Amino acid sequence: MFDVKALAIANLVAQLLLLGVVLVGAHLARNRKDFRRHCTVMRIAVGVQLATIAAVMYPSLLGYLEHEKKGIVFNSQLLTHHSIGLVVVGLWVFANLAVGGVIKFKGRLRNFMRGAFVLWMAALLIGLATFVQVYLLA
Ligand code: HEM
Repeated sequence: MFDVKALAIANLVAQLLLLGVVLVGAHLARNRKDFRRHCTVMRIAVGVQLATIAAVMYPSLLGYLEHEKKGIVFNSQLLTHHSIGLVVVGLWVFANLAVGGVIKFKGRLRNFMRGAFVLWMAALLIGLATFVQVYLLA
């Protein structure tokens, strides 16, 4: 029998490490104008994030929705967290296709990037609040 709380703490640690990676990645683009390394760092960050979603967060979401029945407010919070996260993944796919020339995009990629960054932080904050509610306040 695996320990759900230990898994949640491991995921929390992974999310805080990813926050550090994303801040470094954003710094590389915004301050250093080193877009090559920025792309690499963000590709790795979202790749790792996809692994944590598949291994921990998505199964956890299904568990809450199917078995826990914590109420509509809690479920809406979880679904908002996951929806924002999926938009970030979508923007990441878009960035890769635009930079790779698969999509001909003439607009300002910078605005999409800023949006992805802000949404990532919003999803992280909702996730942190959820952890506090479930494991520290309950
Ligand atoms: C979800 C993941 C990503 C986030 C959160 C993110 C975030 C950012 C941020 C904060 C900036 C600086 C914007 C500014 O100057 O204020 C930026 C710029 C940029 N990023 Fe990303 N990025 C991500 C993924 C990627 C990927 C995968 C690539 C390459 C395939 C990429 C390519 C670029 C480029 C080319 C710029 C410069 C855009 C411009 O100045 O017009 N980004 N990104």
